[in-house]
Amino acid sequence: MFVNDCLNINSSGHLTIGGCDTVELAKKYGTPLYVLDENVIRENCRSYVRSFKKFYNGNGMPLYASKALSCKELCRIVNEEHMGLDVVSGGEIYTAVQAGFPMEKVHFHGNNKTADEIRFALESNVGKFVVDNLYELELLNKIADEMGKTANISFRIKPGVDAHTHNFIRTGQIDSKFGFALETGEAYDAVKKAVTYDNVCLKELHCHIGSQIFDIEPFVTAAKIMVEFMGKIYKELGVVISELNLGGGFGIMYTKNDEPVPYEDYMEKVSAAVKDVSAEQGIPVPYIFIEPGRSVVGEAGITLYTVGGKKKIPGIRTYVSVDGGMTDNIRYALYQSEYTVVNASHADKESAEEITVAGKCCESGDLIQEHTKVAPVEAGDILAVLSTGAYNYSMASNYNRIPRPAIVMVNNGESRIIVRRESYEDIVKNDL
Ligand code: LLP
Repeated sequence: MFVNDCLNINSSGHLTIGGCDTVELAKKYGTPLYVLDENVIRENCRSYVRSFKKFYNGNGMPLYASKALSCKELCRIVNEEHMGLDVVSGGEIYTAVQAGFPMEKVHFHGNNKTADEIRFALESNVGKFVVDNLYELELLNKIADEMGKTANISFRIKPGVDAHTHNFIRTGQIDSKFGFALETGEAYDAVKKAVTYDNVCLKELHCHIGSQIFDIEPFVTAAKIMVEFMGKIYKELGVVISELNLGGGFGIMYTKNDEPVPYEDYMEKVSAAVKDVSAEQGIPVPYIFIEPGRSVVGEAGITLYTVGGKKKIPGIRTYVSVDGGMTDNIRYALYQSEYTVVNASHADKESAEEITVAGKCCESGDLIQEHTKVAPVEAGDILAVLSTGAYNYSMASNYNRIPRPAIVMVNNGESRIIVRRESYEDIVKNDL
């Protein structure tokens, strides 16, 4: 009935998530409110771990890309589910440390890691640095030397694969700010250099071709290109790189038009490609990492809003204003991302009214969705926007000095706060 399996409708006609009535959740915790279903997150983690076992003899590990949603409780859950973590900033490292995450299972990404972040990551014993450029390689080698450490590294490679997704989130092609290009020889030269450095140890190659991808084919192509490159490095330099990180990017359902690929199909085809090309190249089958973010938490989350004013502009459209907006979900303003909107107070009624959901910021582009259909809506109703678990809280801001919403975790009819709502006090806490 809904795009997300964790959703249902109860006898009051209210939308439920993880067995909890969303209208009651809104009453109890206030709105706007992010709600996550723990079982969905855990099941997503398990399906990745399972498919590694099934198709790759367990010779690999999925890392959760915490940029999708980073908070201590998620780090704890991901750890319990035997996944590692992909982090992209000192703040995400700090979150993992505070959550007691085993730091050897953390990979540190980013195209401009600062010297302070590198120092902090080394002090925290982060497992791997995914090096983006030569400047960073030299900086890391120098800082590691000063600290008497050796850093395990990976190189972020642009395999030159076009992943058929939104331009802003397409990263595998040559014109990208991320990583070393293969075509130009830049990646090869970086490998040659790295093996001569004393305080870095090249363990892995990495690629990430984009996000919200529905085709398996570009993933397979990228995997083949990467293993071929590992073969070239072995043949020409005698260096065996034993690990391969294939990034994230698996698409999820935002609306009924989206057709995600089952993870198992992905793992089956990519594993086969990696094994085949490794044999062709005469190199050992590498240990594999993948880095799903969106597909771990996206469909597990919804956002609840309370409806305020309604503005009918005859012959044009009806604006329905909610008590949040681009501060808690900037994805429509940024990417025109499609979402499914449900009138959670009347989820049993037909979606007969076409509305534009407007936020409360002083900005005309502050829209959550345009021309979307919901059950007839009036002030005081609770609107739910589905599939907001990824890149919503993590991209939230305090524009207009609006506090960020709380995150509530639901599990079989129980609910608990995992991230508190910001207060006005929080808003001014750094002001002097
Ligand atoms: N690994 C690397 C190196 C990445 O850059 C990303 C995402 C991931 C893994 C996780 O990709 P996922 O499985 O979540 O697709 N803010 C955008 C998405 C940006 C993705 C950035 N990199 C959005 O809201 O759609």
